[in-house]
Amino acid sequence: MDFKSVNLVYFTGTGGTARVADAFERSFMNRSITVQRTALKGVTDPVIGGDMLVLLFPVYAFNAPKPIGEWLKKIPPAKGRPAVVVSVSGGGEISPNTACRAATIRRLEKKGYDVIYEKMVVMPSNFMIGFDESLCAMVLHATPVIIDKVVAELIKGTRHRTLPYGIDRLAARLGYVEVLGGRIFGRHLKVNDKCIDCGWCEKMCPQNNIKIIDGRHIFGNDCVICMGCIYGCPQKAIEPGIGKLMVVPEGFNLSKVEDRMDHLTVYPRISHATGHASLRGVRDYLIESDCFEL
Ligand SMILES: Cc1cc2nc3c(=O)[nH]c(=O)nc-3n(C[C@H](O)[C@H](O)[C@H](O)COP(=O)(O)O)c2cc1C
Ligand code: SF4
Ligand code: SF4
Repeated sequence: MDFKSVNLVYFTGTGGTARVADAFERSFMNRSITVQRTALKGVTDPVIGGDMLVLLFPVYAFNAPKPIGEWLKKIPPAKGRPAVVVSVSGGGEISPNTACRAATIRRLEKKGYDVIYEKMVVMPSNFMIGFDESLCAMVLHATPVIIDKVVAELIKGTRHRTLPYGIDRLAARLGYVEVLGGRIFGRHLKVNDKCIDCGWCEKMCPQNNIKIIDGRHIFGNDCVICMGCIYGCPQKAIEPGIGKLMVVPEGFNLSKVEDRMDHLTVYPRISHATGHASLRGVRDYLIESDCFEL
């Protein structure tokens, strides 16, 4: 397929999807394809251009996060421009995640996009149950390899669309609960006395939902439960007032895992790292990468 430039648009809360965007950018640029990159933050005006749109998002409650839907409402008609939809999850392409791209694809098609390719990418889970360090490292290692294969297929002109299970389409509707849930979760966030008023959370929140006024944190109504402020605060000073179970107890820090990866020379076998039944989708993903022994 002949394309020379890509419009890479993504939302990220804790950096996993940003790393997937990095891998796409590197892979396209290695093939002399130019990349215009936009991270959705607050109200982002649509940046349209490029021969192809690549839209990436983390899976929240078997669906796309609210900022993706908001952005899609604003984009102009596309008249057949090709689009690629990439979901990033902790669970992989298993039920009920299989329908997580369906609503986004429907909206793009209504705008006139030709959705030529869809893909589930796995990154470490930031929700309820985290991955242990070697599994995080394996996934971080596998992802650029898988993305390189995706980019090679796009250049060849391979089309890849999936058929979600019917029951998963129903589950994906749960994603809409995130909108109300986010408002409640966000309003109940608390800042404890470890806070040193560094202002990081105010700048970082992808929804611009945190304001620090006279040393007091004010949380607005636009929280999408991305977990960025909770995991990222350097003092660990932000805690959920409700929904504590959604937070991985040992925290979530991809940069730390990446630092330690440099010293990791031996990876466990896939079957050992993904023994638990809930990691079936992650196991399939690691097998697909062809990077590790089964
Ligand atoms: C509110 C919320 C809901 C989530 N729901 C799902 C889910 O339904 N399925 C899944 O596999 N992962 C789920 N996850 C995990 C994230 O999709 C995954 O960790 C992703 O890599 C996070 O991307 P980010 O670091 O770019 O924010 C959820 C995470 C959050 C914060
Ligand atoms: S990031 Fe943490 S320490 Fe910094 S202002 Fe926010 S709550 Fe306080
Ligand atoms: S308030 Fe915290 S959890 Fe909510 S959107 Fe902002 S950074 Fe994410």
